Amino acid sequence: QATTEIDLSKIAVGQAIKTSFRKQPLFVRNLTPAEIAAADAVPLSELRDPQSLAERTKEGKKNWLITMGVCTHLGCVPLGAGEGENRGPFGGYFCPCHGSAYDTAARIRKGPAPTNLHVPDYTFSSDTTVTVG
Ligand code: FES
Repeated sequence: QATTEIDLSKIAVGQAIKTSFRKQPLFVRNLTPAEIAAADAVPLSELRDPQSLAERTKEGKKNWLITMGVCTHLGCVPLGAGEGENRGPFGGYFCPCHGSAYDTAARIRKGPAPTNLHVPDYTFSSDTTVTVG
């Protein structure tokens, strides 16, 4: 279907889930205050694909990081959105195919991926429901 509804009420702080959107993996993550602070502490000049966490999330909802789960190198599914998975050296997501490491804003920090994990179009239809697409 064209859009996907996500119930955020069961995603705990610090948890990330893997679901799907238009048949592709979608990551939904409830960032901790420390993860938000870590993302905000990085100067944009250090980033390959410079974007702030605020630009990648919705106003007042900076803890909800919603991205495609598709590595921008060659399309593998990065680790980090499942229980106990390796989140890599920057604490976000880690692509095991060729070692791309993403930070807590899902921005590329190391490895061959050229750009950040893609943020799809979405809206909050309530405080606990997101409509993607
Ligand atoms: Fe992810 Fe190559 S596909 S690093």
